[in-house]
Amino acid sequence: MTDVGSESLADAGVAGAREQMTNVGNGPLADAGVLPVITIDRADHAGPLAGALLQGGIAHAEVALRTPAAAEAIERMRGEAAQMTVGAGTVLSVEQADRAVSSGAHFLVSPALDAAIVDWCEARSVPLIPGVATPTEVNAASQRGLRTLKLFPAEQLGGVALLQALRAPFPQVQFVPTGGISARNLPDYARQPNVVACGGSWIAGREAIAARRFADIVVAAREARAIVRQVRRERSEAR
Ligand code: 3PG
Repeated sequence: MTDVGSESLADAGVAGAREQMTNVGNGPLADAGVLPVITIDRADHAGPLAGALLQGGIAHAEVALRTPAAAEAIERMRGEAAQMTVGAGTVLSVEQADRAVSSGAHFLVSPALDAAIVDWCEARSVPLIPGVATPTEVNAASQRGLRTLKLFPAEQLGGVALLQALRAPFPQVQFVPTGGISARNLPDYARQPNVVACGGSWIAGREAIAARRFADIVVAAREARAIVRQVRRERSEAR
C-alpha cells in the first residue's frame, strides 16, 4: 500500500515502498490541491467528464461507488482518458475494493477507516485514502503507515478549526478534507499547511454530469485550480 498523496500516485497500482507512504510533498493530488468526487449515473458520461476535468487542469478524480454505473465509469475513464488517475470512492468493503481495482481504479478512498480494507490494500500495494473523523482514528491510520487521510465530513466535524487543532499532535499527517467544501470556503481549507488537497462534489456535481454540462465543469475545475494556486502563492510570499 502506498500513500496516495505521494508521487507514487503517478504510477499508482505499482507496488510502492513503505517509506513512500510518508512522502506527501509531490504527485498530481498535491499538485492540483483538489480531488473531484464524482457521482455518475451513466457510464458513457465518463469519457466527456474526464475530458472536461483535464481541460480544467485536473488529471484525477474519485468515482464514488454509489451508483450502478460507477465501476464501468472507472473503466471508461481509464480507457478514454489515459492521462487520468482514477480513484474509486465510498469503498466500504473488501469486496468493493476488489471490484474497483479490477475495474481499473488506481487508488481507493473510503469515508471510514476499516482494518480489513487497510489489510487488503497493504497486501496488494493499492494506494488508500481512508476516512477519519477523530484523533483516535487519525492515530490508528497513522500507526498503519497511512499519512494521507480523508477528513470526513470535514465541514460538519469542525472544518478548518479541527484541521488546525489536529496539526500539533499529528504533524506527519496530510488531510484531504471532504464534505461541505465549495469554491466559497476552498481558500480557507487550502490555506492550511496540513491540507494536501480538498475533496468534494462541487467541481463536477451529479446533476451537472447528468445534464452533460461539461463546459460548466471545465469552468469549475479551472476556478478551483486558480484558487489553490493563488492561496499557495500567498502562502509562499508570506514565508
Ligand atoms: C464524499 O463522498 O466524499 C462526499 O459526499 C462529498 O461531499 P460534498 O458533496 O459535500 O462535496
